[in-house]
Amino acid sequence: WGYKVKGVPEGKAEIITCDGNFHGRTTTIVGFSSEDQYRDGFGPFTPGFERIPYGDVRALEAAITPNTVAFLFEPIQGEGGVVIPPDGYLAEVREICTRNNVLMIADEIQTGLGRTGKLLACEHENVRPDMVTLGKALSGGMYPVSAVLASREILGVFNPGDHGSTFGGNPLGSAIAREALNVIVDENLPERAAELGNYLMARLQEIDSPYVDHYRGRGLFVGIVLKPEAGGARRFCEALQTRGLLAKETHDVVIRLAPPLIITREDLDWALEQITAVLTDAA
Ligand SMILES: Cc1ncc(COP(=O)(O)O)c(C=O)c1O
Repeated sequence: WGYKVKGVPEGKAEIITCDGNFHGRTTTIVGFSSEDQYRDGFGPFTPGFERIPYGDVRALEAAITPNTVAFLFEPIQGEGGVVIPPDGYLAEVREICTRNNVLMIADEIQTGLGRTGKLLACEHENVRPDMVTLGKALSGGMYPVSAVLASREILGVFNPGDHGSTFGGNPLGSAIAREALNVIVDENLPERAAELGNYLMARLQEIDSPYVDHYRGRGLFVGIVLKPEAGGARRFCEALQTRGLLAKETHDVVIRLAPPLIITREDLDWALEQITAVLTDAA
């Protein structure tokens, strides 16, 4: 798109990304990661990527050049520690991208398909990105499948045969993705995530823990941010694991909770019991 439609000189396209991003593990993607561990041993990397602070619209404006073709970001940074941008960020990003003829690419692989209480997290600010990436929940947890959504003007720059892979366009994967989407809509999973997420957050706030700095989240996507002196999130996640609850630490001090959207309130109550025990007992 950058070359064919925007007219950027060949080999000069630039894409702006954010500090703390996580978009996957291919060589191009890890090349613009701010995590040394993801980059280590995989260079040399693809040029053309610039990184700016997450949640900072002024930095975005300042980073755009005539050769900028896209801004790639997560509506909430997942691996970065459930980092929620300031209110109005998505709408301002939309406005800046439109004004500068830069594609707004929302990576909704983690936030999309109901997790945050809306079908797409960008809907929280009624924003329509130019491109959206989906994965994870698109599979119904069953089969590897992911997708890129965009208008015909953008994805239409590919002609059949230009791009592909041995198992790309997999019919079984596509059928499973369609069925997963039906389940998400028919079973009102975004609404469910919004409702149970509010409940989860309210109950978490009641926990009187010496280790917790604060909680943040949207829908069934929650980060428990620990105080620096708590000794890192890993040991809490391990303690939760021995109690039968899987949660992953992100960025050392955040325990990330991302339960299945079909979780019952009873199971959530059970999970809250385990979380309460670990956040008040761990020595
Ligand atoms: C926001 C985001 N983008 C991309 C990915 C990578 O997806 P995949 O593992 O399908 O390459 C992840 C995985 O955690 C993610 O959270």
